[in-house]
Amino acid sequence: MMKMKWDQFYKKPYHERLEMIASDRDLSDEERQRLFADNSDVSNNLIENFLTDYPLPEGVVTNLKVNGRSHLVPMVVEEPSVIAAASNGSKLLAAGDGIHAVVSDRLVGGQIIVKGAEVDQLKRFVNDNEATIFKIANDSHPRVLLYGRGAQKLGVRKLDETFASVDLAVDTGEAMGANMINTMLETVAAWLQQKLGVVITMAILSNYADQSIVAVSGIVPFDKLKNQFLSGEVVAQRIADASHVAQIDIYRAATHNKGIMNGIDAAAIAFGNDWRAIESAAQSFASRDGQYRGLSQWQVTPAGLRGKMTVPIPIGYVGGATKVLPLAKINQKIAGVYNVTEEMQIIAAVGLAQNLAALKALVTDGIQKGHMNLQLKSLAMANGATSEEVAAVVTALRKLDHPSSQAVKQILEQLRR
Ligand code: MEV
Repeated sequence: MMKMKWDQFYKKPYHERLEMIASDRDLSDEERQRLFADNSDVSNNLIENFLTDYPLPEGVVTNLKVNGRSHLVPMVVEEPSVIAAASNGSKLLAAGDGIHAVVSDRLVGGQIIVKGAEVDQLKRFVNDNEATIFKIANDSHPRVLLYGRGAQKLGVRKLDETFASVDLAVDTGEAMGANMINTMLETVAAWLQQKLGVVITMAILSNYADQSIVAVSGIVPFDKLKNQFLSGEVVAQRIADASHVAQIDIYRAATHNKGIMNGIDAAAIAFGNDWRAIESAAQSFASRDGQYRGLSQWQVTPAGLRGKMTVPIPIGYVGGATKVLPLAKINQKIAGVYNVTEEMQIIAAVGLAQNLAALKALVTDGIQKGHMNLQLKSLAMANGATSEEVAAVVTALRKLDHPSSQAVKQILEQLRR
């Protein structure tokens, strides 16, 4: 077979890989230095073909009150207004009684897809052998019973005339448990194949994490919602209307949920979690009744505007990347979260606060006004303003009808004269 240029690339030492990329792509010395400066042993051992650590901004949400305790929540996000909005939403909810959060379930689920089995027979077999299957599953991974209570639930679902799913749910304690459950499923799958002679299509955890659920709710007093032109009651009703629209229209629901995930993902990343798993869980959960809907709902009550949301947050407090990424532990400390339940609650709470701030902005001033200052800052920096120059450039840009890259360059020229 012809040898390809990048064959065995992953086997090369870090410096060789960097040099190969730099020379192949004609990177300048400065660009090469930039990549090199952010290399780390941790990441080099964490992923294949590691090149550099990609820095994203981390900031902190203030005033997030959850179950009576105030938290600072680190968030990693590149979108300018997300943290400001989350802090704003948190403050509004803190003016009520804060956010009430409950974790109703915390199991990791997975499935063994079986082809061509007689489903009633499979159901009977699995049911009759539940204790044996639990033991096989728990014995397959040395640490599962150290972390949590191990295998907890077992069932069989008919998917269609050909396929069935053997579903296993596991308590993995403080760990996310992806590796544990995958090992358990593969071991049980092999046993089922041997015992029943069935065809196994695959064995893998399910990201439809409907057994890792957090319910969050909170109330905003009307007087906190009023502005120069609108009473708090009117703003509350508009937010309730916006929430209703997200229940009936997929176009709006997707955007509504994107706002929620702005908060959830940013906090999940800060804690070193697999945010794609959370995205996948939340987005699929949003269509659990067959229609994709907004994850949160807001309604006007005599006490104020009440928001609630039920959302899967499949994360781990220990293990995986939370153990190796140096910032994950520091961020858990900043947030003051000491176990997986608290971390799930905090992440979901940020999502609710984020959603509130977005809806409030949308039904009052519109989103652009609040974003403007931060967007002008980004525009200034993207066009070469230093941190000392940013404030002056933003002030000058605010006076313009159409702030542009060209305008920043002209302002900078004047400033630097
Ligand atoms: C922008 O990142 C998020 C929003 O579009 C969310 C929403 O519309 O609810 C502002």
